[in-house]
Amino acid sequence: MGGPGDDVREAQAAANRPLFLGALGREHLPSLPEVDEALRAGGRVADIGCGEGWSAIGIALAYPAATVDGFDVDVPSVEAARRHAAEAGVGDRVRFELADAASVGRDGDYDVVTAFECIHDLPRPVAVLSAMRRLAGEDGYVLVMDERVAETFSAPGDDVERLMYGYSVMCCLADGLSSLPSAGTGTVMRPDTLRRYAREAGFSDLEVLPVDDDFFRFYRLIG
Ligand SMILES: C[S@@+](CC[C@H](N)C(=O)[O-])C[C@H]1O[C@@H](n2cnc3c(N)ncnc32)[C@H](O)[C@@H]1O
Repeated sequence: MGGPGDDVREAQAAANRPLFLGALGREHLPSLPEVDEALRAGGRVADIGCGEGWSAIGIALAYPAATVDGFDVDVPSVEAARRHAAEAGVGDRVRFELADAASVGRDGDYDVVTAFECIHDLPRPVAVLSAMRRLAGEDGYVLVMDERVAETFSAPGDDVERLMYGYSVMCCLADGLSSLPSAGTGTVMRPDTLRRYAREAGFSDLEVLPVDDDFFRFYRLIG
């Protein structure tokens, strides 16, 4: 029988699975020419904080020549991700590894490095972003998807802002603070906060990408 941890993990996976198996590979990634081209050409992807694996599987299903390595620190997530990839018939091109993303040392191995709805949860986001920068090397594309919250605080916030503050108080902020030292970001991570983390990780800047999604904002981290 599962516990509350199972519920949170499974709810996270179930909430994002339609996006990852649908619009991500059908609309969002094809709208980014450099990413689309790299994946069509059989690019290698590192998916950081991959959870139960649906983003990695969605990318592999949409791009039959691409290979994806997913990394996550959570044992049950990695086990579920491997099972899901096998059931989806992409187990030969999608592999999952139990690892703290901050210490994955395959510098420059990847054409595209992704983190889907994950950076705001991390106690030490700068360490993970530094690793993503190394994994992408000189030529790789670093793609972050996180919440489409307002660019600045205002009250009352819009519906997305209110929903994300709810998630933050009930789940993400506590989760992020469960391992110290922690940046204590919470779900409401605004573009300026991610820009600050990215610069501390060695990137020169970030670009907000023109991806049309009600809940998520897509960023390219540059340099
Ligand atoms: C909110 S979940 C997102 C999961 C998935 N990307 C999705 O969108 O459904 C954040 C994930 O990051 C993982 N995680 C947290 N710290 C990590 C670290 N240092 N290295 C790798 N994964 C990490 C968690 O175990 C969790 O699966």
